[in-house]
Amino acid sequence: MNKKIAFIGSGNMGSALIRAASRALNPQQIYITDYDLAKASSLARETGCQTAATNADAAGLGDFIFLCVKPQIIGDVLHEISPYLNRQCETGKEKVLISIAAGLTIETLRQKLDGACRRLPFVRIMPNTPAAIGKGMLAMAFGPEVSEDILADLELVLFRAGRIERLSETMMDAFTTVSGCVPAFAYLFIEALADGAVLTGLSRHQALTYAAQAVLGAAAMVLETGRHPGELKDAVCSPKGSTIAGVSALERNGFRSAAIEAITDAYQKNTELGKIG
Ligand SMILES: NC(=O)c1ccc[n+]([C@@H]2O[C@H](COP(=O)([O-])OP(=O)(O)OC[C@H]3O[C@@H](n4cnc5c(N)ncnc54)[C@H](OP(=O)(O)O)[C@@H]3O)[C@@H](O)[C@H]2O)c1
Repeated sequence: MNKKIAFIGSGNMGSALIRAASRALNPQQIYITDYDLAKASSLARETGCQTAATNADAAGLGDFIFLCVKPQIIGDVLHEISPYLNRQCETGKEKVLISIAAGLTIETLRQKLDGACRRLPFVRIMPNTPAAIGKGMLAMAFGPEVSEDILADLELVLFRAGRIERLSETMMDAFTTVSGCVPAFAYLFIEALADGAVLTGLSRHQALTYAAQAVLGAAAMVLETGRHPGELKDAVCSPKGSTIAGVSALERNGFRSAAIEAITDAYQKNTELGKIG
């Protein structure tokens, strides 16, 4: 893939995707910019990518332009780069815009563009924080103007960030809830399990390591064996055993309904935030 990739915004999530892209491609194909150019330069030095001096330069250089700024700023950035995109549209150069802004639909974002560039292919990507270590869960939503070639190239740019699914945009809030919020729920779970393990005599370090590795292993069992989690749970619960005693304690304390409501409450909040955005 010999496309040039531009990233506007190299903060928390932008830098995670830039690091992933620089491991997947020749870093010299990648241009980084940021409001704070020192931040972009430092990341460019670390990853071997190039810097673009301004958002307009990034928009001019990139075939794929990732917009990695906060949702409340992305409209200004689209407005700012529109004239440069329009100039390139006139020369027939195909560009693809990619937003990672939470809660903003492709249509809302498209309306922030001025002129002919409004017709450019637009992809919406939702990553989560484990993308920073290549263990993310990412979804891509797109309209009919986005070709299979574009999608395949994007998957090539992003595969080092984690697992990527193509998804209907109508499911993006549901996706964002489970992929974006579950890491925090899992941290809570791991911390609480470790508290229990400390009560049984392990050091804090041992307790956290063993609990986190057990959760990691269990997640990998679900994904890699394809077996239902209920079946995997049954397989480790022997009659009158310790695991079923623990499962019973979790059920007694409403663990399952607490987890379900964590997702539905977070989903509710996500849809409200989307309406405001
Ligand atoms: N963090 C997450 O977990 C997560 C998950 C999924 C999606 N997202 C999405 O990712 C996007 C970025 O979030 P983030 O957490 O990475 O935010 P962030 O750390 O604040 O990064 C945004 C970066 O953009 C820079 N910036 C601000 N205004 C700019 C402008 N006009 N032109 C160029 N760069 C500009 C900021 O610089 P300054 O710091 O100097 O202002 C900052 O470095 C958001 O749209 C968010 O919805 C984030």
